[in-house]
Amino acid sequence: MAAGLGTRMKSKRAKVLHELGGLPLIGHVCRTAKALDPKTIFVIVGHQADEVAKAVESEVGDLATCVLQKEQRGTGDAVAAARKQLENSPSLLLVLSGDVPLIRAETLRKLVDEHRNSRNDCTILSVRLENPTGYGRIIRDGTGAFQRIVEHKDATPEERHVREINSGIYCFDTRQLFAALKKVEPANQQGEYYLTDVAEILLRDGNRVGVYLHSDAREVSGINTRAELAEFENLLRRNTIRSLMIEGGVTFIDPSHAYISAEAQLGRDCIIYPDVSIEGKSVLGEGCVIRSGARITSSHLGNNVTVNDHSLIVDSEIESNCSVGPFAHLRMNARLEEKATVGNFVEVKKSRIGRGTKAMHLSYLGDATIGDDTNIGAGTITCNYDGKHKHETFIEENVKIGSDTMLVAPVRVGARSVTGAGSVVTKDVPPDSLVAGVPATVKKTLKK
Ligand code: UD1
Ligand code: MG
Repeated sequence: MAAGLGTRMKSKRAKVLHELGGLPLIGHVCRTAKALDPKTIFVIVGHQADEVAKAVESEVGDLATCVLQKEQRGTGDAVAAARKQLENSPSLLLVLSGDVPLIRAETLRKLVDEHRNSRNDCTILSVRLENPTGYGRIIRDGTGAFQRIVEHKDATPEERHVREINSGIYCFDTRQLFAALKKVEPANQQGEYYLTDVAEILLRDGNRVGVYLHSDAREVSGINTRAELAEFENLLRRNTIRSLMIEGGVTFIDPSHAYISAEAQLGRDCIIYPDVSIEGKSVLGEGCVIRSGARITSSHLGNNVTVNDHSLIVDSEIESNCSVGPFAHLRMNARLEEKATVGNFVEVKKSRIGRGTKAMHLSYLGDATIGDDTNIGAGTITCNYDGKHKHETFIEENVKIGSDTMLVAPVRVGARSVTGAGSVVTKDVPPDSLVAGVPATVKKTLKK
């Protein structure tokens, strides 16, 4: 169920699109559902249906089919939206909530086992909470047998004292569920069709309804507000960092001030300083040192890479033993080959920097291919944009680009050549030459 707006989020974005650990809530739920190896997954979509469908597809591909719930008239109505697809399916149906993202596959398997073993028509996953405010309560009779679920808003003061809550996750006999759904009425505070009413209806009609009480309350907590989202983010982040330290051999100078996506991989003996963010599916090899204020998004780093303070690295690749920053910006497929160095205030966009090549200070290198063992002097700029189009710059191996050189693309600097400080290079430079001036001209040929 992922059709609701999530009014309590006070957002224009559908609640299930809000991200936790860099993945939308619905992505978490779909991933867990997939781990159970189901025959198929139906996702009920409504608010921002297209965006939600995209998030679903990017997580589980065509294993899931999205079903539109045009108007959001409650969780019972949400499931009923898939009546055509499911009604005559004899199988067992597991219903998950798009806003309960931390549920583990193992717990769901236990719920399904309990459902099968007890030959139930409906099994509800419940937990006990210290503070059950807002949740539906599990009401039992004097003998402890399940009677019904009452929503917080509809509950009497005594019922509100009940600490056992409905997780919003259930296992059903599909046919019994759809038969009972026809009998659900919106006779409640919110005027909605509650899926929770199905349990009482099934019981009344002589079916078997059970409750599986789970011990880990946090796992089934729903996210309804941004404050809850932030709590979960913190929890997930702490778990990720803890397992990186304990199982992964990664050092965190201050674990409470590091932001590592659950999707990222960090090699042994990496050292992460405070205020570092590593986002998306970034991969860091062994022994990398990431200093404060750096952000690395969807990028690959080899072994022993140093990223100095306040560097931003997006969609880029850095081979082993390179050094980046401080204050460097790598983006759009920047690629640094072994032992390359990109230093202070250097921006590299869609460029390849060869082995052992250095660009230490204040440069812009865009749409450039730079060979091995070349030195890019301070203040060098590849002038890649003529106002309409982008052009490429080629700098071959063993070149020395003098400080403040402007390379007006398209342009090529041949191997072993040298540009004088302040040159404006508008024409290709042959190999083994010294050029200088504005515009730069060949001053002499260098001995090989
Ligand atoms: C629901 C349960 C409550 C339970 C809680 C656990 C009902 C009536 N109540 O309440 O007993 O304790 O979950 O988290 O089911 N949705 C739709 N279409 C709709 C309405 C909701 O797809 O018309 C989706 C939402 O997008 C969400 C999920 O169903 O992913 C749950 O809806 P929400 O409004 O959050 O229900 P709760 O009030 O939390
Ligand atoms: Mg909810």
